Amino acid sequence: MPALIRPRSQPYVCDSCATPHAKWVGRCFSCSDWNSLVEVGESAGGRVPPADARPLSGLAPTGAEAVPTGLAEADRALGGGLVPGSVTLLGGEPGVGKSTFTLQLAAARAQASGRVLLVSAEESASQVRLRAGRLGAVHDNLWLGDDRAVEGIVSQLDRLQPALLIVDSIQTVHLVADEGAPGSLSQVRACAHRLVVEARTRGLAIVLVGHLTKDGSLAGPRTLEHVVDTVVELAGDRHHTLRLLRVVKHRFGPTDEIGLFEMGGDGLRSVDDPSRVFLADRALGVAGSVVLPAMEGHRTLLVEIQALVVRAATPHPRRSPQGLDVRRLALLLAVLERRTEVDLGALDVYATVVGGVQVTEPAADLPLALALVSATTGRRLASDTVAAGEVGLGGEVRQVVGIERRLNEAHRLGFRRAIVPATTPEVAVGLDVVRVSTVAEAVAVAGLLPGAAGEAGRDHVR
Ligand code: TYD
Ligand code: MG
Repeated sequence: MPALIRPRSQPYVCDSCATPHAKWVGRCFSCSDWNSLVEVGESAGGRVPPADARPLSGLAPTGAEAVPTGLAEADRALGGGLVPGSVTLLGGEPGVGKSTFTLQLAAARAQASGRVLLVSAEESASQVRLRAGRLGAVHDNLWLGDDRAVEGIVSQLDRLQPALLIVDSIQTVHLVADEGAPGSLSQVRACAHRLVVEARTRGLAIVLVGHLTKDGSLAGPRTLEHVVDTVVELAGDRHHTLRLLRVVKHRFGPTDEIGLFEMGGDGLRSVDDPSRVFLADRALGVAGSVVLPAMEGHRTLLVEIQALVVRAATPHPRRSPQGLDVRRLALLLAVLERRTEVDLGALDVYATVVGGVQVTEPAADLPLALALVSATTGRRLASDTVAAGEVGLGGEVRQVVGIERRLNEAHRLGFRRAIVPATTPEVAVGLDVVRVSTVAEAVAVAGLLPGAAGEAGRDHVR
């Protein structure tokens, strides 16, 4: 069990940003908040018995065995399931489906083996019961608690001896013994620390739900990332159905797996073939559309990148990316202006990833650049073509990770041609691989310049 120690020389901690301080000051020197320092109790800084260091070779390599939750995509992302005695933090924006996910996870685990205690501090027991009925998540082994005090939750652990505890959410429970206001940083941390101790001593798996703020950081729980063993994030656009379960940190397994779900009327369903979901509504024959075989962890998803340009209505043209990095878009516009004959300087530019996902990997550069040029010249890329590659400031097209996987996935879905970096190694894939070393070359081979032998579209900007 890790001792929860703070150096005795720094007995104060900022309640806003968690920076330790040697003495009390009126204003935190780190985040500049006023009156935010709180004294950390003696118990936290208590004495620790000396532990002698041992040679690494003398230790038995006992591994932590994950127990499957029974929810296939979650087990896949977590590298097999949840490890007894470990604590997992599940983050996500409000409304993304954390409560739905944890309820389904709880039911699946209860069905598989052992008791599950779900503490719903945000919704009433009857609300949860109603939802569970709709999700088919009612099970005798699934117990529901709505005690918001951690002390009360612990006494339920004594009574029920569950194998899994889920707390929804860590921001809405509180420790009676802690003086901080519910939801404050000191409360959130005190509750998490206490629950970590319970997990370790009982060999109990715990999932803590935490709300993410808009900028993507776990509000308050950010500091918990160090305390817990695993951090997973449920991501997706509220207005779209696809949800990604991403592992951000994992003490017991890989962090490059993801789980994919679709939110439906009966909760989250596993998605086995995500690329088909993304491309289902694709409009063929429209300029400004290019497909990228994107990588999420180990998985390849084919996503459509779209661009639209119109004459700017103001002297300051608008650059509006959705699901794409705004700085990457600006950089690509600059590269296109300098390294190709296409000038988008006086145009409003809209660029989006279809399906409500975020694609921030460098491989999106080339398809985005091609989509921008296509939208400007009105000439469209052949609809059976994909593109992937990073674009440098010199206009050079650089290699990206996992190119073989990407091409295989594109081939599987019926694409016949791929525009890739010149340095792409010889790969045995069933599609026509077109290697380019510059973005200008890519634009030319894609047939996007006026007068080229490509497919003409109708909607170019005059
Ligand atoms: P919820 O799990 O409450 O989100 P969170 O706990 O992350 O705030 O789910 C939020 C949304 O999911 C809600 O707007 C409705 C939708 N939803 C469905 O579409 N289908 C369902 O079966 C359920 C339970 C929810
Ligand atoms: Mg919720």
